[in-house]
Amino acid sequence: MRNIVTGNWKSNKLWNDAEKLMDDVATGILESQHTDVFVAPPTPYLAALQAQSTDLIGLAGQQCSAHLEGAFTGEHTASMLKSVGVKAVLIGHSERRGGFGENDSVVEVKIHHALDAGLLAIVCCGENLEERDAGQHFEKVLTQLSHAFQNVDTSKMIHVVVAYEPIWAIGTGRTASAARAQEMHAAIRKHLVELFDAPTAESTRILYGGSCKPSNALEIFMQPDVNGGLIGGASLNALDFLAIVAASNEAASKEQQGG
Ligand code: PGA
Repeated sequence: MRNIVTGNWKSNKLWNDAEKLMDDVATGILESQHTDVFVAPPTPYLAALQAQSTDLIGLAGQQCSAHLEGAFTGEHTASMLKSVGVKAVLIGHSERRGGFGENDSVVEVKIHHALDAGLLAIVCCGENLEERDAGQHFEKVLTQLSHAFQNVDTSKMIHVVVAYEPIWAIGTGRTASAARAQEMHAAIRKHLVELFDAPTAESTRILYGGSCKPSNALEIFMQPDVNGGLIGGASLNALDFLAIVAASNEAASKEQQGG
């Protein structure tokens, strides 16, 4: 299966720098045989950056509204994203869950809006440090996913990607070890078998996020249940992001050769 690498720029970069970063990334990706690449810039830039997106690099939204349309000042909907050429959207990022009331019910609604709009839904999950230290990390993550997917039809899962992002690793420089990432990714895949079925679990891409950088990307992506990454800080530097995309291509190509 093809990996996915998505750069999440969060609330960084003013327009001139954003345009240059997109240009540097788009011109730097000459081919990406085994990886679908997306960048998620700040929302005001999406329509304009569409001109620089190519078959090799698509745009993603950092979130979408839980509403469909109407009197919701400041919100942008999944279909609005779709209408300006966006292909994917992040849902349930821990910074949205923690700071903007995006709880499990809201996440569930947003997934349906994204799928109905024809977007790839990149659904984020992850435990905080307290939960990890208390040994509750599996329960936390699997419960988040049970909620998120409780009403998603199996046939729609082809348009869903899971991103496991331990909160204690986001922006901290503290990465989950490859073994820890693999352990959680395997548990997520097993859970998807229970929620859906084995073929669906096998074909769902599960990304790792949290201080992923050129120096650790290959080792993480080589894990059997890791199918790419959601990249924050390192996606703000074109060379670092391109190196991570290259690591993903290398890992996926080795995996194909191996099996
Ligand atoms: P980070 O962020 O790579 O800066 O840790 C990842 C994310 O929040 O998606």
